Amino acid sequence: MAAPETTPPTEPKAPPHPTLSAYYAADPERSRYVLDLFNETAPHYNTVEKIFGNGGLLYRRLSLRWAGLKPGMRVLDVAIGTAAVAQGAARLVGPSGRVFGVDPSMSMMREARKVFGGPLTRGVAQTLPFRTGEFDFVTMGIALRHVSDLVRAFSEYHRVLKPGGKVWILEGHVPKSALGHRLTRFAWKTLIPGLTLAFTRDRRAKELMDYYWDTVEQCVPPEGILDAMRKAGFERPRFQVILPGAICEYTATKTG
Ligand SMILES: C[S@@+](CC[C@H](N)C(=O)[O-])C[C@H]1O[C@@H](n2cnc3c(N)ncnc32)[C@H](O)[C@@H]1O
Repeated sequence: MAAPETTPPTEPKAPPHPTLSAYYAADPERSRYVLDLFNETAPHYNTVEKIFGNGGLLYRRLSLRWAGLKPGMRVLDVAIGTAAVAQGAARLVGPSGRVFGVDPSMSMMREARKVFGGPLTRGVAQTLPFRTGEFDFVTMGIALRHVSDLVRAFSEYHRVLKPGGKVWILEGHVPKSALGHRLTRFAWKTLIPGLTLAFTRDRRAKELMDYYWDTVEQCVPPEGILDAMRKAGFERPRFQVILPGAICEYTATKTG
């Protein structure tokens, strides 16, 4: 397994959100903080998914199918976590295809191993330990806010894709309207962390959900993400709101 990058070698040019000093003191400490948080809360991650009735797992699979994932394809699932995306991808590509998972957190990958039989590699989005032009699809579910630099991560996705290959990214969504924002904030900042604490009785699991909302709320807006995708070489990246106040998607194809 490749060694994970915990500190970016240079100052990130396109961080996904500003420093969140309530959680870590300065940006170089962010990746260490995120790694520790996921390592410590990995056993609870699926409990959090269950609060949503595992609907997220079904949606991930359907969305990948709508995006064109087919039997026989080679997929790289970045930030595989507990394999919420990779499980669905593996079903879609079937025995003639292959899904690879990469993640810096060994604890999350141990959870993935319980439901996912494909290769698992330790690593981060911004320096992928894979060869150029290896994959038909690169996927990333609910993890874009954790990369150290958006342009570097997207450049890596572009590099490992075959010409004609597709990137699919699922992220949290914040409505633009003041009322939509307030309702979403109440759900994600108060209700869901409260439910998480009630179900898990673990303060770090609640912190995971607190951190989720704070990073989603502070994340660069969709136009900034699309701009980073263009800078990385994707020509016509697309943004789509799937469920307002919950999830949105970014997709793009590598031309060639
Ligand atoms: C919220 S989980 C997402 C898991 C899964 N993809 C899903 O759709 O539910 C976020 C994952 O991102 C991983 N992660 C954190 N920093 C990362 C980075 N720089 N590159 C790739 N993955 C990262 C964490 O270890 C964690 O497993």
